[in-house]
Amino acid sequence: MDNLVIEGGAPLSGTIRIHGAKNAALPILAASLLADESVTIGNVPNLLDIEVMLDILRDLGCKARHQDRVVTIEPATVTSGHIPETLMRKMRSSVFLMGPLLARFGEVHLYQPGGCAIGERKIDLHLRGLAALGAKIEEKGSRIICSAKKLKGAEISLDFPSVGATENIMMAAVLAEGRTTIIGAAREPEIQDLQQFLNKMNARVSGAGTDTITIEGVSSLNGCEFEIIPDRIVTGTVMVAVAATRGEVTIERTCPAHLTSLIHVLRRAGVQIDIGSDIMNVSAYKRTKAVDRVVTSPYPAFPTDLQAQVMTLLAISDGVSVMKETIFEGRFKHVDELCRMGADIRVDLNSAFIRGVPQLYGSTVRASDLRAGAALVIAGLAAQGCTVVEHVHHIDRGYDRIEEMFTQIGGNIVREAYKSRVYS
Ligand code: UD1
Repeated sequence: MDNLVIEGGAPLSGTIRIHGAKNAALPILAASLLADESVTIGNVPNLLDIEVMLDILRDLGCKARHQDRVVTIEPATVTSGHIPETLMRKMRSSVFLMGPLLARFGEVHLYQPGGCAIGERKIDLHLRGLAALGAKIEEKGSRIICSAKKLKGAEISLDFPSVGATENIMMAAVLAEGRTTIIGAAREPEIQDLQQFLNKMNARVSGAGTDTITIEGVSSLNGCEFEIIPDRIVTGTVMVAVAATRGEVTIERTCPAHLTSLIHVLRRAGVQIDIGSDIMNVSAYKRTKAVDRVVTSPYPAFPTDLQAQVMTLLAISDGVSVMKETIFEGRFKHVDELCRMGADIRVDLNSAFIRGVPQLYGSTVRASDLRAGAALVIAGLAAQGCTVVEHVHHIDRGYDRIEEMFTQIGGNIVREAYKSRVYS
């Protein structure tokens, strides 16, 4: 387990390129199981979650290689639809394999992924969607067995636009007989990326990006080459860090159109943002202003995955801000850590009331989950003095060497082994 040691106070400046999106890559890697031929996927980031997904694919019998951010998968050799419990527990996103394995083998055995640091994270919508396509679902304790002789297209209405459930149903339905319509689908850019990938393999999916997705089943899918979209949450993390350190950074190889809600919040806080089609310039030369109400909601509204990072900025902005978390119930774990650094934040149920302080101060803090960890790194970059962020493995799940990313644009941040700092 590593620590990040951050010497705060340096305004970020320079140019940075954004790596591929974890949340697009994970379902796309799972969907590659649907092809009869080999699949090559570019711009796949080097992240812990990606490596776990590749390990699961190998365990299922696939040949999978990841080199220079290019993944090659040969799915023809897959022999089993059984996801081992140990790998399932390592990463919640292994649920994405349900749809493709069911479509390919007619049977999948897996385990309830259970809750995680940010909330309960049920999979009932995934299971109901697959059942609507004709799968028989048996739950034996934490073990789940889904089976179907032949999946049949259906009209499926989601009570909530779950990202994972939408993706799982899309992946199961591409090889089903007839037409599937998902009503109330999630609209995230990662779902549009999955549609593009499936269609490159010759699937017939349309409507991603709207709340109704239609899938016309086909009998087989071919191999393809594909490029993952830039990570909007990593882009947003950099934008917030630039604002918090009062710097100026040009962000390249990104997609500003995926960040409209964040851009709106940051502009309200007084951050200057100039936008091109795949480039952005972000600058903030004075203290940012409070933003009265930021509410997380499904895309295109403000993303829960940027709530913690923006809270760090609001913690040092002038005035009182309110943030409301409506997606996950356990997503305020960064609050106590920010308060240890001098922030003044009070939580009441799913709302946080943030009274901006002029300055945060370096401290030893602990990442409880991926985005909470990123928020603490931003706090460390903006704070006066030295901050140590512990439990960096959470951050490594979604940021490809975060210390190198910020060092490139002037952050003073190094990684060191956990023991050397804490016990020496
Ligand atoms: C995905 C993202 C995650 C992001 C989240 C919300 C990936 C790999 N992860 O997670 O980074 O924070 O979207 O934007 O893409 N729910 C149910 N039943 C279900 C499914 C979900 O009740 O069957 C609830 C969840 O508990 C949660 C909410 O719906 O409260 C949102 O979950 P969902 O959209 O499914 O998020 P994920 O796909 O898990």
